[in-house]
Amino acid sequence: MTGRYLTDVYRPEELYLTDIETMKPNIHHLDIRDKNQVMDVIGTVKPKLVIHLAAETNVDLCEQRPDHAYKSNFVGSMNLALACAKHNVDLAYVSTAGVFGGDQEEPYTEFDDPRPINVYAKSKLEGEKIIRSLMPNCYVARAGWMFGGSRQDKKFVGKIAQQCLDQAPRPHLKAVSDKKGSPTFARDFLAQLRVLTESGNYGLYHLVNGGESTRHGVAVEVARILQVDAHVEAVGSDVFPLPATRPNSESARNYKLELLGLNRMRSWQEALQEYLQGWQAEKA
Ligand SMILES: NC(=O)c1ccc[n+]([C@@H]2O[C@H](COP(=O)([O-])OP(=O)(O)OC[C@H]3O[C@@H](n4cnc5c(N)ncnc54)[C@H](OP(=O)(O)O)[C@@H]3O)[C@@H](O)[C@H]2O)c1
Repeated sequence: MTGRYLTDVYRPEELYLTDIETMKPNIHHLDIRDKNQVMDVIGTVKPKLVIHLAAETNVDLCEQRPDHAYKSNFVGSMNLALACAKHNVDLAYVSTAGVFGGDQEEPYTEFDDPRPINVYAKSKLEGEKIIRSLMPNCYVARAGWMFGGSRQDKKFVGKIAQQCLDQAPRPHLKAVSDKKGSPTFARDFLAQLRVLTESGNYGLYHLVNGGESTRHGVAVEVARILQVDAHVEAVGSDVFPLPATRPNSESARNYKLELLGLNRMRSWQEALQEYLQGWQAEKA
């Protein structure tokens, strides 16, 4: 989902794109769990920067298959860090604000201690730790609840937007109101990541759109933007039981970017408005 916006933020000649499954001719095959392959690709391409987006992102699958989660998110990250360290390449690792325990009222900053409560978040945090311990020239950027993908958007925003259209004129939707986070447009995330990685200020950063919301709040905003007269029922997370527990709060603040005068992130509502305009245009 996030990788598709790389071409919005970088010129084609600046990019060497890889993925584990590759159907497109301009995307090269790379499984980050395979150390030899990772060493070969980094050693051959010798990029200035690796933007490490690859992960097992299915939170419930991670809970059910911890070995798979740690192989993808920890071992894969270690392989990239070893290769980047060997060839003196900068590395930007995309992590998650889901690494926190979720019991804090105010948004988490980079100075709060992580306390992951599910396997996905634990594996992403171990990815952070191994990268930071193996190389000084790395950026760790924790994203919020990411949205994006347009036609292929099968995540929360895409599903709600589609339900709004399918059930018009008066959809009845249900959305969880007891968990909060920082909705983040994947394209904004990458644009801000570019600013950060060009600053040379290595280290750990929160990188989210401004503000916080529940899924219910996001669904209400989606309906408002699409000008659909939806009734969005606020429900507890027990209504949608899932294998992995989600923290009560994944809300984050870009505190270090603010301190450095580098924060370019707009509010999540502005970002969502622009995203849904594009989503609608692609549907038309
Ligand atoms: N989505 C969110 O809300 C969110 C929030 C915070 C942080 N993040 C982080 O942001 C990054 C991008 O997330 P996303 O939502 O854009 O994820 P995504 O759409 O699931 O993309 C992840 C990509 O990594 C690939 N991949 C999986 N295992 C791999 C391996 N061993 N080697 C190479 N590629 C592999 C996946 O391929 P397959 O699809 O074929 O498995 C997929 O193309 C991830 O690191 C994620 O942890 C996401």
